[in-house]
Amino acid sequence: MKITVVGAGAVGATCADNIARKELANELVLLDIKEGFAEGKAQDMMQTAALLGFDTRISGSTNDYTKTANSDVVVITSGLPRKPGMTREELIGTNAGIVKGVCENILKYSPNAIIIVISNPMDTMTYLALQSTGIPKNRIIGMGGTLDSARFKYQLSTTLYCSPADLNALVVGGHGDTTMIPLIKHATWNSIPVTQFLSSEQQEKIIADTMVGGATLTKLLGTSAWYAPGAAGAALVESIVRDEKKLFTCCVSLNGEYGQSDICLGVPVVIGKNGWEKIVDMELSADEQAAFNKSADAVRSMNDVLKTL
Ligand code: LAC
Repeated sequence: MKITVVGAGAVGATCADNIARKELANELVLLDIKEGFAEGKAQDMMQTAALLGFDTRISGSTNDYTKTANSDVVVITSGLPRKPGMTREELIGTNAGIVKGVCENILKYSPNAIIIVISNPMDTMTYLALQSTGIPKNRIIGMGGTLDSARFKYQLSTTLYCSPADLNALVVGGHGDTTMIPLIKHATWNSIPVTQFLSSEQQEKIIADTMVGGATLTKLLGTSAWYAPGAAGAALVESIVRDEKKLFTCCVSLNGEYGQSDICLGVPVVIGKNGWEKIVDMELSADEQAAFNKSADAVRSMNDVLKTL
């Protein structure tokens, strides 16, 4: 198994670190455009192998895509991160060109790779990856909802004083501060609806805090977060390489599912060796479906910006 992570910044390096610690591949390539940067991060990570006891071989490359040849899974984290006060959407102009170029280079050497998109604005970058490469839709997965669902569980766990791992909770829709939809009515604490334990004020606060989860961290850190985004990317890689068939919210191409077409948006999907293998059709209330449609409208207008670039 060979995995490539494109972009050796904080998100890419954290994702690679998680992949190595879990030994998801025997070969892991970290690639970056900044001279020597990926090589340095790879070497630093390799020097943890004796301490952590993993056998994944990590190498770095400065923009040499021949080193990525025959990768089974590729995680794309390239592009600018958010600065405080910036929305993910403001990154579109710069990141669209970067993501398109990365996809072309990757597929030149790994034509069968499954691609996981982390770069922002994630929904539009996933759509762009699908449109520009034309590879089968099941091989392009946007990571956003996986991260947002983990953040939703974090917010729920701090209010319920419970283990985040005991929670089932999904965020669907876009990966924007105003487009994501934390589905609190469907969330459970080991099968018990969380709404049994939360006042409506608490529920509203959990939803609001989840939606600005990324922005809150950007403000605290001065740049966008990396531990949870990197771990979310690695969780998807794990479900692919171990063919786990785990259910995650991911941004995938919709063709009529959830009433939407010609768009990539976050919905529950099964992730296995073929990429996203199935969209799980979940029953939404009228309010939830209306929110989903509104989210789709916002993402679609962002996708329209691609035509003007
Ligand atoms: C975040 C970025 C990775 O939400 O989109 O932290």
